[in-house]
Amino acid sequence: MNKMKNLTGLFRKKRPNLGAKIMITKGGRTSLDESYNRLKDNVLHFGALGKKVLQVEASIAGEGKTTLVANLGVSLAFNDKKVVVIDLDFRNPEISKVFGVDEAIGVGDYVLEDAPLEPIIKSTAYGVDVITRGRVVYNSSFVLDSKKMAELIDVLKEKYDFILLDCPPVLMMSDYMHIAKYSDGILYTVSANFVKRSAVRDSLVLLSKLQVPIVGSVMTGVNPSDAFYGYSK
Ligand SMILES: Nc1ncnc2c1ncn2[C@@H]1O[C@H](COP(=O)(O)OP(=O)(O)OP(=O)(O)O)[C@@H](O)[C@H]1O
Ligand SMILES: [Mg+2]
Repeated sequence: MNKMKNLTGLFRKKRPNLGAKIMITKGGRTSLDESYNRLKDNVLHFGALGKKVLQVEASIAGEGKTTLVANLGVSLAFNDKKVVVIDLDFRNPEISKVFGVDEAIGVGDYVLEDAPLEPIIKSTAYGVDVITRGRVVYNSSFVLDSKKMAELIDVLKEKYDFILLDCPPVLMMSDYMHIAKYSDGILYTVSANFVKRSAVRDSLVLLSKLQVPIVGSVMTGVNPSDAFYGYSK
């Protein structure tokens, strides 16, 4: 249950957070599968331009970032792309749960404890590799700005086609600024009927000050039966 209260006036209404999960299947034909196929095609195009690091952002907590990162990663893996997902949401790391791997050890251990690279990269049943947060990180900017973090991204760029970064919400943490220096583009998530317009505007103003472009946006929480789909005469 999401215990966060609507203290800041950023939500339109509260709703339970049931957690992120993998929802797409190989060859699946649901509207969700089709949506991820379209998104994947756009990301493949982004890759074809020589870019590989995607920073997934949203204004506030619970808009579907982790769900998006995880399902996009799986979708790219269905296309035989080598993908690693890194959990940079140090406040609320969920990637280990979604992919069914141990939280220990991860980015925190690599940067703060000098852990070796090999054990922090975990393969999953979904064909996607993941790096969890691991050890609790209290000072996120120290970790994100470290030389070790920059080295980690450089090494991963050699090994993978895509590096997907799960991040904390823009209006709640300033981590997005530090993460942006590694990223080639931002994928921006907006949850329909959940986040307030003013919060979206505020976070877009902050993101637009970065050197990194917003390369796409994804609306979550849309009921497919409310949306126009298919062709009609
Ligand atoms: N496309 C979607 N459509 C409907 N519900 C969704 C969608 N994506 C995620 N959700 C639901 O929204 C809630 C939050 O999802 P998720 O944990 O992925 O968000 P988050 O942005 O990572 O949250 P946090 O900032 O707390 O880490 C979950 O209950 C999830 O099932
Ligand atoms: Mg999350």
